[in-house]
Amino acid sequence: MVTRLKLPGVVARSMIERDHRVISPSYPRGYPFVMDHGKGCEVWDVDGNRFLDFAAGIAVNSTGHSHPRVVKAIQEQAEKFLHISSDFYHENWIRLGEALNEIAPFNEPAVSFMTNSGTESVEAAIKLARYVTGRTQFIGFLGGFHGRTMGAVTFTASKNHYHRGFFPLMNGVTHVPYPDPYHPVLQSLPGERYGETVVRYIEEQVLAKVIPPEDVAAILVEPIQGEGGYIVPADGFFPALRQLCDRYGILLIVDEVQSGMGRTGKWWAIEHFGVEPDIVCAAKGIASGLPLGAMIARKRLMKWQKGAHGNTFGGNPLSCAAALATIELIGNEYMQNAAEVGAYTLEKLREMALRHPVIGDVRGIGLMIGIEFVKDRETRKPDEQFRDRVVDLAFEHGLLLLGCGKSVIRISPPLCITRQEIDEGLGIIERAIQLAEEAC
Ligand SMILES: Cc1ncc(COP(=O)(O)O)c(C=O)c1O
Repeated sequence: MVTRLKLPGVVARSMIERDHRVISPSYPRGYPFVMDHGKGCEVWDVDGNRFLDFAAGIAVNSTGHSHPRVVKAIQEQAEKFLHISSDFYHENWIRLGEALNEIAPFNEPAVSFMTNSGTESVEAAIKLARYVTGRTQFIGFLGGFHGRTMGAVTFTASKNHYHRGFFPLMNGVTHVPYPDPYHPVLQSLPGERYGETVVRYIEEQVLAKVIPPEDVAAILVEPIQGEGGYIVPADGFFPALRQLCDRYGILLIVDEVQSGMGRTGKWWAIEHFGVEPDIVCAAKGIASGLPLGAMIARKRLMKWQKGAHGNTFGGNPLSCAAALATIELIGNEYMQNAAEVGAYTLEKLREMALRHPVIGDVRGIGLMIGIEFVKDRETRKPDEQFRDRVVDLAFEHGLLLLGCGKSVIRISPPLCITRQEIDEGLGIIERAIQLAEEAC
């Protein structure tokens, strides 16, 4: 049995005290993990404690911690030059654009705008949508998370604290329910799939009564909601949504910042739902941990004038080098691994759910998996405290986990994780659940 660690250790405690003196208190720190180093799916804290990492820095370390090929690519680039700015050109930036063109989820050439983060990719998509459609309005989804800059945070609707103190936000965003099959809030018609119900609501309630469709530039949606609770949309949603967009000339923007880059066993989660978006927002796993994002659009849409949008660090040479190595590793082996090990993990978790009634739902695709804890399986009332307890206990037993939604644990490990590592981590999760159950 795994021994329980005494955390934080002495060194971690003193570093956290120093941090609190000089770093913004706005960061949503969870439990007191102070990183020293990592390798693959393992990390060590500054007191020498070893942890298995099921969080991957919020789904970022796609190739594991410090993959030698990624490190080598960064080192080689660092020897050559660190920065030249987006006023000029360099080859790895071009190669990255070519690689993204290859993997973009639409059957048409793709052009990319490179960013430094997810929120900046979303911001770029919002601006491009307004620019090319000449329309001002947008539709976003309750429970969505798209970042924290002023435009992106307007769409973010997973918790009200992202908005508290920041009004007025960007003008022109209307939120509608996400097609959450476990917590549906709308009533379906006979024979209608819940995903279609949500799209009917958008058309009949929002477009018909609030915003004329010809004023809507785009619908921005996560193919699988991340921060909102690792929610796989209900059947029928994306085909109906795509048809709605086509009917009214509305652009479909998918935020793949968390779900993209092979995490679900395909390059993009939207590929599981059989429709093609117009714009894709990427970041997180794209460069294994170096700051990089991309707003990838159909070439015919990327028609803004020189100077209309830009940034100093876009196409950062180190990030581009890391991204090229990352894309190669994911394409060659880790995307397949995510599909296989993800399916194995879901199976094991569904077996675990049979032993623990507190697990209300297990869902996900590939290595984007959520476990929802409930007070009661009938009412599906979220048990947030239980979830928090499990996350803390898992940490004390050597596993890094992150919560999301109201009472969900997300499993978003590096895409190179093995079945043995999954078994080890799931063993810790079950132990934590048992301990939390005993304390109830
Ligand atoms: C779906 C999604 N979009 C956008 C963002 C914002 O990314 P960043 O924190 O890099 O700005 C996140 C971050 O969690 C995300 O999950």
